[in-house]
Amino acid sequence: MAGSLGAEISGVDLSKSLSNEVFAGIHQAFLDHLVIYFRDQNLTPAQHRDFALRFFKLEEHPYVEGIAEVPEITEIVKEPEEHRNWGGPWHADVTFKEEPSIGAALYARDVPPYGGDTGFANMYLAWETLSDGMKALIDGLEAFHDSSGYDYSTAFRGMRGKAAAGDRALHPVVRTHPETGRKALFVSRAYTTHFKDMTPAESKPLLEYLFDHASRIEHTTRIRWEKGSLAVWDNRETMHCAIDDDFAARNGGNGFRRVLHRATFAGQKPM
Ligand code: SIN
Repeated sequence: MAGSLGAEISGVDLSKSLSNEVFAGIHQAFLDHLVIYFRDQNLTPAQHRDFALRFFKLEEHPYVEGIAEVPEITEIVKEPEEHRNWGGPWHADVTFKEEPSIGAALYARDVPPYGGDTGFANMYLAWETLSDGMKALIDGLEAFHDSSGYDYSTAFRGMRGKAAAGDRALHPVVRTHPETGRKALFVSRAYTTHFKDMTPAESKPLLEYLFDHASRIEHTTRIRWEKGSLAVWDNRETMHCAIDDDFAARNGGNGFRRVLHRATFAGQKPM
């Protein structure tokens, strides 16, 4: 999809049960390209769940009700008059828990004719492109990830909360991917508040540098959603953001409805 990350896969119908050989190819593409993308899929929630389960066990979102048919699927809804997307700021999912979600399979059900793309950043590249001096400074640091700065349901008319936010976890600033052995930067603007043994004010300049560095355009790609598109990403070496470019709604008018279903891979402790 871009020089940095992402691959589109065609010629596969995800509503069918895939052979181990076909799935092994998809899984390898997931490890090699970090975000993979399929178009023109026609999936029921159960078929979506079954495909996601080929990767990992699934988990429910801690703060948002899942859909009745498959509670591990979160329905992400932006109504036409709303201009913020759920998941707007750059983040990896649920990093405020000790065991953040490994990744997700996001399926487009109702998409705007334009806008509302999802951006992805390659956090291997974010680490590898730092100077040796910066690498030496941050490797071995830990940072807090906190859920409390974000509204998970009340700001979104189409989403229902089930618990209050308020989780916090301490994670390494540089993590090693358990399957590839490669190092990746692991901080995000949405959730990382400060380094261990430092105040938020002391941490801010360096964190801001790392957030900006990670999301430099040459470290990113974006998915243009069509109804029936499905993306699978790995949170262990990517970040993503839902792009808030519904300017008609932002300017007080009506914009576009956007509905995606997210099946979330269960958590794993970052090392
Ligand atoms: C998410 O953060 O999981 C949602 C991303 C999106 O809606 O584009």
